[in-house]
Amino acid sequence: MSSSTAPVRRLWRDVILFDGLKTHPAPMTVVVEGERVTALFPSGNDHDKNLDVQAIEEAVEMGRGGVMTPGLIDCHTHLVYGGQRANEFESRLEGVSYADISRRGGGILSTVRATREASEEHLFETAAARLQAMIDDGVTSVEIKSGYGLSVEHELKMLRVARRLDEQFKVRVFTTLLAAHALPPEYADRADDYIDLVCNEILPAACKEGLVDAVDVFCEHIAFSLEQCERVFLAAHDLGLPVKSHAEQLSLSGASQLTARYRGLSADHIEYLDQSGIEAMAAAGTVGVLLPGAFHTLRETQFPPIAEMRSAGVPMAVASDANPGTSPIVFPTLMLNLACTLFRLTPQEALAGMTYNAALALGRTDIGRLHPGAVADLCIWDVDSPAELAYAIQPGRLRQRVLKGELTHG
Ligand code: NIG
Ligand code: FE
Repeated sequence: MSSSTAPVRRLWRDVILFDGLKTHPAPMTVVVEGERVTALFPSGNDHDKNLDVQAIEEAVEMGRGGVMTPGLIDCHTHLVYGGQRANEFESRLEGVSYADISRRGGGILSTVRATREASEEHLFETAAARLQAMIDDGVTSVEIKSGYGLSVEHELKMLRVARRLDEQFKVRVFTTLLAAHALPPEYADRADDYIDLVCNEILPAACKEGLVDAVDVFCEHIAFSLEQCERVFLAAHDLGLPVKSHAEQLSLSGASQLTARYRGLSADHIEYLDQSGIEAMAAAGTVGVLLPGAFHTLRETQFPPIAEMRSAGVPMAVASDANPGTSPIVFPTLMLNLACTLFRLTPQEALAGMTYNAALALGRTDIGRLHPGAVADLCIWDVDSPAELAYAIQPGRLRQRVLKGELTHG
């Protein structure tokens, strides 16, 4: 290959490197070639016999110092939706619960009405603004769920918007079909018939259009039963799609165990998770996704069993759950802070939760980590230590952002 067609080599010196799991003890030099990280070594060791010295000398210097992390991965969002629900925020401040609002036809169903009314263009523009805020705070991968359409037409509309965001923004978008999110009004008292629609029509149609990377369910007394969720998992399995769940958010349903039984990617929320669920998740490698924004917004008091998950070896991810009801927040590094202050994660665990373990929750092992061979999705931050990203609640600390080896910010 002639040098003019060789991939660009870029090099950062003296960075404090958080590699997805741990912070390296010495300042590091990082070399990226094309889309991949090709070398990491302590700065000053350029002439180590194992390194390609010429490759290092020919690299474009990208800067010195700062903290480097994998690009942040937000593995659970509902970023595409119509309307907003400030009125419910006010009702909750007056003492009405989230579950009561939902039983009165508000909550998710209020966003369903607004989303059904919204054009694809409007959904795109409003989601784009939220996505841009996340990108500006270091997100390089984001999962986006459907779940406010609840019909073939409107679920596919939401997922098309998510795919368009992937095409038009420098970010990876992972789509999740969450048609089993709430019972649409036209199916009132006919939940099993709606699950038929999900399994036999919505899921196959969305899958046929290539709109689905994974399938999610909301297992809860205000949503769907364990049996109904299992039917959705079976339909997903028939189509070769991985599953995940909104599990044990308001009560213990056993959805985490069910998800583990289907080798699910993740069980999310999990405030009421019990020991048998923890053991099932540990055995299956199902990630526990913590959503401190929803916990904060709903002023929950039941804490997810962090210490027990930690000792059982359940990988823990942290995500925004960005949505108009329980977590109207598009500030990824705030989630690092909330995961530490509310759930007592260490800053390192919180960062692993938005990098390495978040990638696992999306079924990926090539992103969310920085080692030779990994995909070069990364951020350089103007902070002194990785812990500072979780400690201070402050936008504007992103110095550079790199997606697939390409500088997209800074
Ligand atoms: O993750 N738990 C269910 N679904 C969302 C909330 C959706 C909404 O209230 O609009 C969640 O918290
Ligand atoms: Fe959610």
